[in-house]
Amino acid sequence: MFDKASLYDDAINMSLGEPGFVTPEHIIRAGVDFLTQGKTKYTPNAGIYPFREALAEKLQRVNHIKCGPNNIIVTFGAVEALMLAMITLINPGDEVIVPDPAWPDYVAQVKMAHGIPIGAKVYEKDRFKMTAEIIEPLISPKTKMLIVNSPNNPTGAVLNREELREIAELVKRRKIYVIADEAYERLVYDGEEHVSLGAFDGLEDYILTVNTFSKAYAMTGWRLGYACANKEIVSQMIKLHENNGSCVNEAFQHAGIYALRHGDKDIEFMLGCYDKNRKLIAEGINRLRGFSCIMPKGAFYLFPNITGLSMNSVDAANYILEKTHVVTSPGIAFGEAGEGHIRMSFANDCHSIETALERLEKYFGTK
Ligand SMILES: Cc1ncc(COP(=O)(O)O)c(C=O)c1O
Repeated sequence: MFDKASLYDDAINMSLGEPGFVTPEHIIRAGVDFLTQGKTKYTPNAGIYPFREALAEKLQRVNHIKCGPNNIIVTFGAVEALMLAMITLINPGDEVIVPDPAWPDYVAQVKMAHGIPIGAKVYEKDRFKMTAEIIEPLISPKTKMLIVNSPNNPTGAVLNREELREIAELVKRRKIYVIADEAYERLVYDGEEHVSLGAFDGLEDYILTVNTFSKAYAMTGWRLGYACANKEIVSQMIKLHENNGSCVNEAFQHAGIYALRHGDKDIEFMLGCYDKNRKLIAEGINRLRGFSCIMPKGAFYLFPNITGLSMNSVDAANYILEKTHVVTSPGIAFGEAGEGHIRMSFANDCHSIETALERLEKYFGTK
């Protein structure tokens, strides 16, 4: 879609999975200052100790996860943390339960680790919630791991405490590993609470919590992520990391400490903007003929139902692009259960969203 969009000078790209904001200026300045101070060296593979200390403190205080610096590895974004976790734990032929729809990298990574992805299909009628009830029948003797992503990309679904408690109980009972990808933890709306799966007792040997500075701090290009797990798992991930880039940029690790200490106000500001955009786009889309959507409770994506257009999601995304020059992602890209939907990011500026809605309304008309 991105390539096709380049054919149109006036394309509005709503297919991207990143904040429209540039990283807050004081965080950029901190990164530059650390470079100027000579923080330009290799670091320990796991990441510099003060950063892991700061991350452990944050995980304990905010996420209520019991951990210390030695439970943490600093990675090239959440994406590397996930890949290292999968290579560490998955043996050829192991099954991994992956939400469907989901961020497409999970399936690709499971396959790269020679595992077999098993989709846990969730639908709009259930507000796209991947519950223990949906997961349990998919567990077989070959199941090694489960992936939980709340808030979810692409649906914006947020699991509540009770739903997560049931997943935690299931994981303990069936003794499978679980990766909690909490990349969007700071981006929740309407008073919803982000609850970390790792906060539930007795999961220590099964859970890996993965997180990133990309989404909350608008730091996608810095490639700053981390994982928290038991020491045995982390020590294996560190060995893989040595051979996969060795260490994250030293200055940026220091900037990560700075962002943790001084970035909360920026997150609140950006969240306020996303929230306004969310309401604007959801109202606009629900007015359109052929489209409908539920309100996402987290992340920065709307996942409209386009079955009213009587075409599949790839044709719909192409048709929308051709007729309105608005770029969206076809739902099928996120898994079979994503068919009948498109994904629209509302992390860009509200002016682009208003213009996109005007164009869509002009072409498709209102109900
Ligand atoms: C659910 C989810 N997890 C992880 C990532 C990767 O983030 P990072 O930039 O930290 O690698 C993304 C990026 O889109 C995502 O949507």
